[in-house]
Amino acid sequence: MKPLSGTVALVTGASSGIGAATARALAAEGAAVALVARREDRLRKLATGISEAGGDAAAVTADVTDPQQASAAVAAAVDRWGRLDILVNNAGLLRMGSAAQAPLQDWSDLVAVNVMGVLHITHAALDQLIAAAADSARGVADIVTISSTGGRVARPGTAVYSLTKFGVNAFSEGIRQELIGNRVRVGVVGPGTVDTEINDDLPAQAREAFARNTANMVKLRPEDVADAVTYMVTRDRRVAVNEILVRAAEQTW
Ligand SMILES: NC(=O)c1ccc[n+]([C@@H]2O[C@H](COP(=O)([O-])OP(=O)(O)OC[C@H]3O[C@@H](n4cnc5c(N)ncnc54)[C@H](OP(=O)(O)O)[C@@H]3O)[C@@H](O)[C@H]2O)c1
Repeated sequence: MKPLSGTVALVTGASSGIGAATARALAAEGAAVALVARREDRLRKLATGISEAGGDAAAVTADVTDPQQASAAVAAAVDRWGRLDILVNNAGLLRMGSAAQAPLQDWSDLVAVNVMGVLHITHAALDQLIAAAADSARGVADIVTISSTGGRVARPGTAVYSLTKFGVNAFSEGIRQELIGNRVRVGVVGPGTVDTEINDDLPAQAREAFARNTANMVKLRPEDVADAVTYMVTRDRRVAVNEILVRAAEQTW
């Protein structure tokens, strides 16, 4: 028996970076994993890789900014496996630049994915998580949200990104207290700088500024953050690890 045998996990943003690594890690611990994101080809490839490694996973295409698609994604996982024990709210994006020059669309996109995406999926999943906690060999269910060092300290150029990450921290703390009686643990993992595709959509100037700021730093790998998520959700039911900060070792902020 593996620590998560018999459990079902749903990971948003599973098509790349931290989400893909987390899906692989949870599957390796025995969870069946619903892989949620928009790029179906990536999800299918990941599902195949997890199956070949002896795990169980399914691609579930959804845009988390749409409440109907978020709810359908949760329903797809429950239809397939009959329960939902672990939710990892990971889908997110980054936009950088000074507030005076930022297109308003950047701010809307940040809030739509990093905040509303988390709320849509969590809202759809809560009843299932409560039911799973009550009917589970583990005796608990888990919600883990990927925040950021930007959720602890706001810095110039990422004010609205920080707003979204401070926001999900606050939401997590509120529902953590609400869900104690239901044995649904709520945790936040705050990564530092991780080598993923998150910067790929930034304008060249922002990418160059980011590259300069992080030039002397060995960046985290997505697996380093997946380790933190796995640690949280594999603790005994008496232990709630509610927050983990994982910085790159040379990171000052
Ligand atoms: N990389 C870092 O340095 C770092 C640091 C701190 C925190 N984080 C946080 O870690 C999380 C994962 O980021 P990452 O670094 O792994 O970046 P990434 O490789 O760009 O992955 C982002 C994921 O989010 C998904 N996504 C974006 N918009 C979506 C939407 N509307 N609906 C569904 N899925 C959506 C993407 O999939 P599709 O495009 O296929 O939909 C992708 O799978 C984010 O919350 C980010 O804020 C990252």
